[in-house]
Amino acid sequence: MNVLRKILVDKDVSCKSVWFMRQAGRYLPEFREIRLKNRDFIKLCLNSELSAEITLQPIKRFDLDAAIIFSDILLVPHILGQNVDFKTEGGPKLKNFRFEKLKDNKPKDFLNKMKPVYDAIKITREKLDNTKSLIGFVGAPWTLLIYMLNLSKDKSPRIESLLSSETMDDVLDILHEYLCLHIKNQINAGAEIIQIFDSWAGLLSESDLVKFCYEPNLKLVEYCKKMRTPVICFPKGIKEKYSDFNKFVKPDALNLDYDLDPRWCKDNLKNVTLQGGLHPKTLLETESIMLEAAAKYVKIFQDIPYIFNLGHGLLPETDPVRLDKLIKFYRQHS
Ligand code: CP3
Repeated sequence: MNVLRKILVDKDVSCKSVWFMRQAGRYLPEFREIRLKNRDFIKLCLNSELSAEITLQPIKRFDLDAAIIFSDILLVPHILGQNVDFKTEGGPKLKNFRFEKLKDNKPKDFLNKMKPVYDAIKITREKLDNTKSLIGFVGAPWTLLIYMLNLSKDKSPRIESLLSSETMDDVLDILHEYLCLHIKNQINAGAEIIQIFDSWAGLLSESDLVKFCYEPNLKLVEYCKKMRTPVICFPKGIKEKYSDFNKFVKPDALNLDYDLDPRWCKDNLKNVTLQGGLHPKTLLETESIMLEAAAKYVKIFQDIPYIFNLGHGLLPETDPVRLDKLIKFYRQHS
């Protein structure tokens, strides 16, 4: 069994492990080279050979314990009929939401269109060393909704004003159904761990957290457990509510965001593996500032099951040499 699973499943404190969100991305010159020749980001995600190659790029360069499949959470709404455009400034833009269109989808068509992703997972798993994990992922329903309803610029979206509560329930159910299908097929293709990204959970008011964040995450976590696959949740931005989330959802692991105090996390998040937390911006600081910040996480979490990672994805400005130093520091000091 590989180290990530030992930490996630057996809660083996003696195992040390490191990988990074967005480890396959624009900070790598070899990624930018492929990207220049492949201007359509969605098409690139659906090119199995290139997706596998990009997934393995950081593994070839660095001493990492896991690969995360090169894809995107927005591929699900794209394939469900809301075309995604990544070309525009100010983040991805989705075609207008139409409930009738969403409802018309068929699982068989979804799987046919998503097949290149599952093929990419198969190719990657074959090429990846057995000691390393392959991570699949999905976006949580709330975070997908934010993009589907074009609300990512909205600081406190008023959910009631957008869809009737009946339609909202149906949309959440439909998303859940397709996310399970996507999880299942990633696992069957060779993904051994699933991470659920709820990047916009922090936009929810306290009273909406249960319905739009905890419950949808719980249903997906239960599905992963049924599939005997460890699951990592990332409800970014919900501050001290991470504790309620943990008790309600009970994932195998929680990815910490950079806003959380690691000491608070250690004291308040129990019976769960912790992952990440370090601010991606610290990699842009001087080397000593970066290593000091990293040392804090290593020290605090040394005696609990912990996977070294960040509090959000690697920034495009990150110097790959710097990342290598961080990984070597972690290997020496953990
Ligand atoms: O290395 C990896 O982490 C695997 C691949 C991966 C990507 N996106 C590739 C990507 C993963 C796991 C994601 C998840 C994702 N995508 C999230 C959740 C995590 C988070 O960042 O909060 C979200 C919200 C998205 C949606 C998305 N995709 C946005 C907002 C953007 C544009 C802004 C940005 O950060 O780049 C993307 C594009 C994207 N997804 C890129 C990559 C490598 C950059 C595309 C490019 O080359 O221009």
